[in-house]
Amino acid sequence: MVQRVATVAFEGIEARAVDVQVQVAPGLPAFNVVGLPDKAVSEARERVRAALVASGLALPARRITVNLAPADLPKEGSHYDLPIALGLMAAIGAIPADALSGFTVLGELGLDGSIAAVAGVLPAAIGANARGEGLICPGACGAEAAWASPEMEIVAAASLIQLANHFRGTQVLARPQPKVREASDALVDLKDIKGQESAKRALEVAAAGGHNLLMVGPPGAGKSMLAARLPTILPPLTPAELLEVSMIASVAGEIEGGALTDRRPFRAPHHSASMPALVGGGLRARPGEVSLAHHGVLFLDELPEFQPQVLDSLRQPLEIGEVAIARANHRVTYPARFMLVGAMNPCRCGRASEPGFACKRGANARCAADYQGRLSGPLIDRIDLHIEVPAVTAADLILPPPTEGSREVATRVARARAMQAERFATLGLPQLRTNAHAHGPLLEEVSRPDANGLALLRDAADAMRLSARGYHRVLRVARTLADLDGADKVARASRRGAVLSRARRRGSPRGVKTRRPHNRRSATSSTRWLSTLVKMRSARCRVGKMFSRRLTRLMRRQIDVAVSIASASDSVAKR
Ligand SMILES: Nc1ncnc2c1ncn2[C@@H]1O[C@H](COP(=O)(O)OP(=O)(O)O)[C@@H](O)[C@H]1O
Ligand SMILES: [Mg+2]
Ligand SMILES: [Zn+2]
Repeated sequence: MVQRVATVAFEGIEARAVDVQVQVAPGLPAFNVVGLPDKAVSEARERVRAALVASGLALPARRITVNLAPADLPKEGSHYDLPIALGLMAAIGAIPADALSGFTVLGELGLDGSIAAVAGVLPAAIGANARGEGLICPGACGAEAAWASPEMEIVAAASLIQLANHFRGTQVLARPQPKVREASDALVDLKDIKGQESAKRALEVAAAGGHNLLMVGPPGAGKSMLAARLPTILPPLTPAELLEVSMIASVAGEIEGGALTDRRPFRAPHHSASMPALVGGGLRARPGEVSLAHHGVLFLDELPEFQPQVLDSLRQPLEIGEVAIARANHRVTYPARFMLVGAMNPCRCGRASEPGFACKRGANARCAADYQGRLSGPLIDRIDLHIEVPAVTAADLILPPPTEGSREVATRVARARAMQAERFATLGLPQLRTNAHAHGPLLEEVSRPDANGLALLRDAADAMRLSARGYHRVLRVARTLADLDGADKVARASRRGAVLSRARRRGSPRGVKTRRPHNRRSATSSTRWLSTLVKMRSARCRVGKMFSRRLTRLMRRQIDVAVSIASASDSVAKR
C-alpha cells in the first residue's frame, strides 16, 4: 500500500504542492528517495531513520521507497524530513492512517526526534489554506504559520512524540497564535543628527517619493547615521506589502520566532558581500539582500568598494523590481523593489573635497576620478537624488538637538505618499505607489510643470545639457516636491495661481484663502532649501575644478534637484 502525505516545494516565494508517496514493500531491506531530490533531501533518509529510532520506532526490515511527485520539479531543502517520517509512521501504524489527510506537512528532523524550524512556513501555510488544508509544522514556526488564516487548522509540534500523542488524542496540541515583532530600533531618531539640514531634507524627499539616493561626503560626516534613520520616517507597510515582505523573509528563513512586523525592511550588506548574497541564489535558491529589502531600503555603505559585477547585478532589480536567478534546470524569480541608498567618500583617502587636503595618491582630482570611476554610468543613472554631505562642524555639534524629529517628518512623508498612491490609483495603476516608479509618458502626465517651471527647465536643460534621463529625473523629483508641499498637481498649481490673480481683481473666491497660508509655508521651506543648495553649489564650484568629469555629472544632478525645487516653489510663490 502507498501512504501519501502532502508537502510543498518552493519556486521563488510560491509554495507548489508536492506529493510524498511512501511505499513499504516486501523485499531486501532498503530505503530510497526518488523524484529529483537534492543533497539535503537525500540525506533525509539518515535523519528519518535516527529520529524514528529515538522516538521508539524502528524502520521495518523491508523495502521502503519514497517518491516525491511531480518528479520533474526540483526538491531542495530539509523540510521533507517530516512528511517522509509521518508517511512511514502511518504506513507502519504508529499513527492512524487517515490522520494526515487534509494536512500539508513540512519540518526538519533532528537525530533525537525533535522537529527543527525550517524556512518557508508562511508561504506553505498560505498555500495549504488556499487548498483548504491544514498545516503540520515545527513548533518554532507555529506563530508564523498562524498568520496565514485565523481559521485554518495548524499543528505545531516540537517532536515526533508530541505529534504521535496529538494524533492518538492523548495530548492534543493547542493552535499557535500569530505574533508581532516590536520595533527594536525605536532609539534612533532624526533628532540625533545635528546640522546637515539639506541632507535631512534630501532624505525626506527620497523617502516621500521612493527615490534612490546617493550621499557623497568625507568619513564621519554622518552618512551612515542618516541612512540608518531612513526607516524611522518611512510609512509602515500596507497589509499587502507586509504579506509579500514576510513571504520573502520566510523563504529566506529570516523570520525570528515567527513574529512579523510592519516596519519597512532596512538591509545594509557589507561591501564584501558576494553576488549570491546580494541578488540571491547560490547552492540553494534563496532570496538575496535585494529581495529582503523589498518594499524597504537597501543601504550600500562605501558603494565603490563593492565588486563591480555585484553592483552591475543591481541593474535588473532597479529596472524591473524583481530578480531572476538561473538554477541548474530552471529559473526562479524573487520580488526586489527597493529604495537604493548609497554612501561613499569622495575619494579613496576620503577627503579630496576638503579644502587644503592633499591626497596621498596624487592630485585630488585624479584620486577622486579613480574612485568614482568604479561606479558605472548605468547605475549612477538610476539614482534620482545625489547629494553632498559635508563634514559636520563643531559649531553644529554644540547646537541643542533640533526640535523636529522623525515623527514630524514621517507625517509629511506619509501624506505625500498617500497623495501619490491616490493619484496612481485614479489613473488605473494601483500597483504603482511612488513617483520613483513613474516613467515616460506616465511621468509627463503626472508632473506637467507650469509655464514658469517649463521656462526654468528649458533654460536649465540648455545650460546644463540635460539628457533625457536627467530631464525625467527633474520631473520626478519635482513631482515629489510638489506632493510634499501638498500641491495636488504640478499643473494645477499654476491653474490655482491664475485663479488667485483673477481673485485679486474680483475679490477672493471661497475656499482659496484657507489653503494659502499652508502653501506659503511650504514655499518658504522649499526656497530655503534651494538657497542652501545654491550655496553648496557655489562652494562646490571651487572644489569642483579639481574634480573629475564624473563628479561634474554628480553636481549637475544636484543642480537638477535645485531646478526642480525652483520650479515647484516658483509656482507656489506665484500664487
Ligand atoms: N550631524 C551629526 N550630528 C551628531 N553626530 C554626528 C553627526 N555627524 C556625525 N556624527 C557622529 O559621528 C559618527 C560617525 O558618523 P557616520 O555616520 O559613521 O559617518 P560616515 O558614515 O559619514 O563616515 C556618528 O556615530 C556620530 O556619533
Ligand atoms: Mg559610514
Ligand atoms: Zn584621495
